[in-house]
Amino acid sequence: MLKDTTIAFIGSGTMGEAMVKGLLENHLVNPDHIIASGPREERAEELTKTYNIRATTDNREAAKGADDVVLSVKPQVLPSVLEELQGVVSKDALILSIVAGAKIARIRGALGTEFVVRSMPNIPAQIMQGMTVWTATPSTDERHRQQARTILAALGDELFVKDENYLDMATALSGTGPAYAFLFMEALVDAGVHLGFSRRVAHQLVLKTMQGAVGIAAHTMKHPVELRNDVTSPGGTSAAALYELEQGGLRTVIAKAVWAAYERSKALGDAKP
Ligand SMILES: NC(=O)c1ccc[n+]([C@@H]2O[C@H](COP(=O)([O-])OP(=O)(O)OC[C@H]3O[C@@H](n4cnc5c(N)ncnc54)[C@H](OP(=O)(O)O)[C@@H]3O)[C@@H](O)[C@H]2O)c1
Repeated sequence: MLKDTTIAFIGSGTMGEAMVKGLLENHLVNPDHIIASGPREERAEELTKTYNIRATTDNREAAKGADDVVLSVKPQVLPSVLEELQGVVSKDALILSIVAGAKIARIRGALGTEFVVRSMPNIPAQIMQGMTVWTATPSTDERHRQQARTILAALGDELFVKDENYLDMATALSGTGPAYAFLFMEALVDAGVHLGFSRRVAHQLVLKTMQGAVGIAAHTMKHPVELRNDVTSPGGTSAAALYELEQGGLRTVIAKAVWAAYERSKALGDAKP
């Protein structure tokens, strides 16, 4: 599908590298068809050495002639990158953005291209366990959509949505979601240390517990409340702990946190370049 496609990564940090890795490990594209760009020469050398791909410090050189151009820079850097790429990107190219908050209209307007995909992956993409939500301009034809789908599927699961508004929502839920999970794990490990476990043991117990809980939820597909009721005996330890969590307003805090991330994603999209 992508064998003869040249893919340029503009910004080759954590997510850019995860995408390169996913594409290569799934044998979707040959290394010499990938070109990565970024500001540092050492990073370009490192990427070439690790993945055998081409790498450059010149964004224009990377994007020129590429069939697919992946925008994988931080939101704050996007305005200067879009300016730099003006007139360079082929009119037939697929532009695939993973930049949080960056609206399709802005990218399309800056680059003058028809085929623009906006996506929101998340960090488990690094181990091909990611969840990516994406949408495309209505004028993106099936060939370009299929290319986007193939690239994103190399990161884990992908879900197409028709309405771009869902991208800000996905940013708050699945894009930012791993941060919530990491904080919850950290708090549990600290609680274990407070009880008297060594940090190493507390970490091991928490990690396996989280993995097991997610595993059973995915395996049974039961609603979380059903699973929670199954482990909550009358007058038992779970009931005592859950009462404290509810008293502390855990649900409200989570709802507020996710809403704050949603508002932040929209604000990033509205920010003037
Ligand atoms: N990380 C996540 O969990 C996650 C999840 C979903 C979406 N995203 C989105 O993915 C994008 C990239 O995030 P990331 O976590 O991969 O960030 P990152 O690791 O900081 O990667 C960004 C890369 O862009 C490079 N860069 C800086 N200025 C540049 C320029 N002018 N031209 C080309 N490259 C430039 C950086 O190089 P230097 O390091 O040398 O500055 C860095 O390698 C962001 O827009 C973010 O919203 C991230």
